[in-house]
Amino acid sequence: MSDAESAAPLTVGVLGAGRAGTALARALARIPTLTPGASAPVVRLASTAPPRRLRHHLTIYAPRAEAVSAEQLAAQAEVSVLAVPRDALDDVDPAALRGPRTRTVVDMTNTWDAPGVDAAAQPTTAEVDAWLRTGTELPVVRAFFDVSHHDLAAAGRVRAPRRALAVGSAADEVRARREIANLVRTMGYDAVEFAGSAAGAVLEPGGAAFGTEHDAESLERLLHGR
Ligand SMILES: NC(=O)c1ccc[n+]([C@@H]2O[C@H](COP(=O)([O-])OP(=O)(O)OC[C@H]3O[C@@H](n4cnc5c(N)ncnc54)[C@H](OP(=O)(O)O)[C@@H]3O)[C@@H](O)[C@H]2O)c1
Repeated sequence: MSDAESAAPLTVGVLGAGRAGTALARALARIPTLTPGASAPVVRLASTAPPRRLRHHLTIYAPRAEAVSAEQLAAQAEVSVLAVPRDALDDVDPAALRGPRTRTVVDMTNTWDAPGVDAAAQPTTAEVDAWLRTGTELPVVRAFFDVSHHDLAAAGRVRAPRRALAVGSAADEVRARREIANLVRTMGYDAVEFAGSAAGAVLEPGGAAFGTEHDAESLERLLHGR
């Protein structure tokens, strides 16, 4: 891995500016506090709203982030993040997540049983992964999906005890997984990596590792049985 790839990305594009996307932007903005010497990436957020309307929303929920259109989202992004509810993905073009410099796509989504939304009618994690992979032709890393937006924005810590977050990808996408795991660490969390679908149901809503606080040892045990 080159130094450029192991460093925090300079620009992160996030599609979806709701609870999850804006919490991620706030968590990324904390990097210089949580990892002294590290700089916060530029975060650009897009939703269905035009940038001018989104700007107003971000003033409250992600004041350091830039509002852009979905078409502009990935123009400068090294890392793109999907933070749109799965039941809305029919309206998303995954190609919008890939720009000329994009090297990694992060899937932050879950099958979430929200009021009025039928969880069984939403695409599964494997289906979203395949759709992103085909639509972007980039490595896809699953991250930030196992923590509530409240905790994501506020639970990062400089020192132990630190909460651990899971970071997964296909077995052969080690570079992309490491890049996001390193980013997670600069955000004040420990990262526990997993490859393929080995972790399975424990990371899905209702599973023991989903939405609950674990240190690295405990999460490692849940994901890998050791
Ligand atoms: N909430 C959490 O604590 C949390 C934590 C981790 C992961 N997640 C996952 O993250 C995903 C998003 O959840 P959320 O809670 O952030 O939902 P949310 O608060 O309802 O926000 C959804 C966002 O997606 C945008 N969106 C919808 N359709 C779109 C489209 N076609 N193109 C571009 N943007 C679109 C919405 O834009 P408009 O407002 O303009 O429609 C809105 O900004 C879900 O899969 C969820 O399971 C959530």
